[in-house]
Amino acid sequence: MNITQRTLSAVLLLAGLAWHVPATAQSEASAASSAASAPAAAAPAAAASAPTPPGMGTQYSEKGADTCLDYHEAESDTATFTTALVFKTRHAHRRDARAPFGPGGLQCEACHGPGARHSAKGSKKTATINSFKPSSFLSVAERNQPCLECHQSGLRTGWHAGAHDRSALACSDCHQLHVEQDPALAKNSSQPEVCYRCHKQQRADFQKTSTHPVRFGLMGCSDCHNAHGSTNTGLLVKPTVNQTCYSCHADKRGPVLWEHAPVAEDCTLCHSSHGSVRSALLNKTPPLLCQQCHSQAGHPSVPRTAAGLPGGGAGGSIFLVAGSCTNCHSQVHGSNHPAGAKLMR
Ligand code: HEC
Ligand code: HEC
Ligand code: HEC
Ligand code: HEC
Ligand code: HEC
Ligand code: HEC
Ligand code: HEC
Ligand code: HEC
Ligand code: HEC
Repeated sequence: MNITQRTLSAVLLLAGLAWHVPATAQSEASAASSAASAPAAAAPAAAASAPTPPGMGTQYSEKGADTCLDYHEAESDTATFTTALVFKTRHAHRRDARAPFGPGGLQCEACHGPGARHSAKGSKKTATINSFKPSSFLSVAERNQPCLECHQSGLRTGWHAGAHDRSALACSDCHQLHVEQDPALAKNSSQPEVCYRCHKQQRADFQKTSTHPVRFGLMGCSDCHNAHGSTNTGLLVKPTVNQTCYSCHADKRGPVLWEHAPVAEDCTLCHSSHGSVRSALLNKTPPLLCQQCHSQAGHPSVPRTAAGLPGGGAGGSIFLVAGSCTNCHSQVHGSNHPAGAKLMR
């Protein structure tokens, strides 16, 4: 049965070629035979320099990368783009069977898609290949597809659950593959710039006086965020804000004898995670920070007259300087002292 079908399509193909009416041959062949043999007929069609319809087709080039490099050699490089640098990346490992240039790999076409139609004379170049450009005829999902085919496990298990996929970001919005060192991967140097292109507010936050040391190259965004997406809030690397913070500030996890309820609940009730103009990344200055939740009535926290201050003549207290609750309640994160119930020791 199968053999009969193949013979039939081969006969039709040969007939088509013999008639020298490639366009007719193509439509007849594809109508009569399986879809797989249709692209084979596209070659003679292109040879006759009829404009190919948009789309990549399914046919790979005959000589793989050599076909592409015939055209995309040094002379077609631009000031910002060098085709051959892909050979300096892990994708070009010749002995990694998983890599595009590994044994049996599809080479350039593993990412850019089947290229026979694109490399054929007279084809409309931009409409026959996955260029990964925003101006491409392919949708974002179609552009990401080849990457996800090799890379959907690990960090990208949650790709489709994240804000970036929802906002139609392409892998190539963050990654560059024709460079020696992809800026997105260098957590302690170039990575933040990749993110700041879109996240201007965060660029400003990390310039403030009190910040996580991202601009000093000691941390990257990916210490706290999985940019690929996850089911966690805010694309965090851990299920909750606190678990993310504990991964470095383990001392704040407790357990403590005298717990301060908001600490166990959410660090961001008092701290901003990126940057703040107050010390210790606080999102408000004490006493206001504390008075969001605690009544100020009848408590010696704010010097209401000059007399309340040291040297004010009425036995003023240094604990009231700067109106700060933490002058007395220094153990805001919880206390292990038997008498630390009021978080003072
Ligand atoms: C044919 C499979 C395949 C395809 C298609 C593919 N990759 Fe890869 N990629 C790999 C392999 C294999 C590695 C090396 C992984 C390793 O060494 O653990 C890799 C590594 C990477 C790395 C890490 C590089 C480094 O230096 O650590 C990034 C980033 C990456 N790929 C992104 C992409 C993107 C974006 C696309 C789509 C444009 C893509 N890949 C398409 C197989 C593929
Ligand atoms: C919003 C920016 C962003 C987008 C979009 C993005 N990535 Fe990444 N990717 C990163 C960052 C940052 C890292 C390095 C930090 C890390 O490991 O989390 C990374 C690391 C990687 C790595 C190497 C680490 C590993 O998991 O082995 C691969 C592979 C990768 N990305 C593939 C992809 C693919 C495929 C897509 C599209 C589906 C994609 N990325 C989209 C930012 C992004
Ligand atoms: C691992 C996936 C991958 C492989 C393999 C790959 N490319 Fe690319 N290529 C990309 C991505 C993604 C872009 C978009 C620009 C960027 O991120 O660097 C691109 C961009 C290009 C561009 C620029 C397109 C434009 O119009 O600006 C050319 C040309 C190109 N690649 C040619 C090749 C050739 C030739 C090969 C084989 C030698 C190849 N690529 C192998 C992923 C890949
Ligand atoms: C091409 C633009 C672009 C780049 C580059 C980019 N993002 Fe985003 N990011 C977005 C968009 C769009 C959203 C969705 C905003 C919204 O929903 O309001 C978003 C949302 C986020 C969120 C919030 C998620 C949530 O659930 O609230 C985080 C966190 C984030 N991005 C981190 C990063 C990091 C880290 C990088 C760099 C590795 C990065 N982004 C690079 C466009 C970008
Ligand atoms: C110390 C951990 C940490 C680092 C480092 C970090 N973030 Fe965040 N980020 C957070 C937390 C926590 C949130 C709030 C998440 C929530 O409440 O859902 C957040 C939220 C965000 C949001 C969502 C909007 C907002 O402000 O709530 C964006 C966008 C974002 N971060 C981008 C970045 C970028 C870009 C970088 C690197 C320059 C970065 N973050 C570095 C912890 C961090
Ligand atoms: C990847 C490790 C890491 C993670 C995760 C992390 N931090 Fe930090 N944090 C640091 C480092 C490093 C410093 C700087 C310490 C220094 O300057 O001595 C710091 C400093 C701080 C400071 C003190 C700043 C100051 O000026 O004294 C606060 C507050 C803080 N982090 C809160 C948080 C919160 C809240 C989270 C969770 C959203 C968090 N951190 C997650 C590494 C981390
Ligand atoms: C009730 C408000 C509040 C909450 C909630 C809170 N903090 Fe703090 N945190 C403070 C105050 C106030 C300071 C400044 C202490 C000082 O000036 O002595 C501080 C200082 C810090 C510091 C720097 C000094 C030190 O003690 O190491 C770190 C790190 C820190 N907090 C981490 C965290 C983490 C992680 C969480 C969540 C588990 C958290 N904080 C929750 C109020 C809070
Ligand atoms: C988000 C709300 C919130 C913020 C902000 C907050 N607290 Fe608390 N605090 C609580 C809660 C809830 C308790 C537990 C009250 C209880 O058990 O009756 C508590 C308990 C306390 C206690 C022990 C009270 C007792 O009766 O044992 C002290 C002292 C305290 N907080 C001081 C502070 C200081 C100082 C700050 C500012 C650095 C602060 N709190 C900020 C919610 C908050
Ligand atoms: C001069 C030292 C001092 C300052 C400053 C101070 N407290 Fe207190 N606070 C105390 C003492 C002492 C107690 C214990 C009273 C007791 O055990 O009866 C206390 C008790 C508390 C309690 C437990 C409830 C209560 O009234 O007994 C809370 C809540 C509290 N303080 C919050 C604050 C807040 C919020 C601020 C800043 C606005 C602040 N404190 C500033 C000394 C101080």
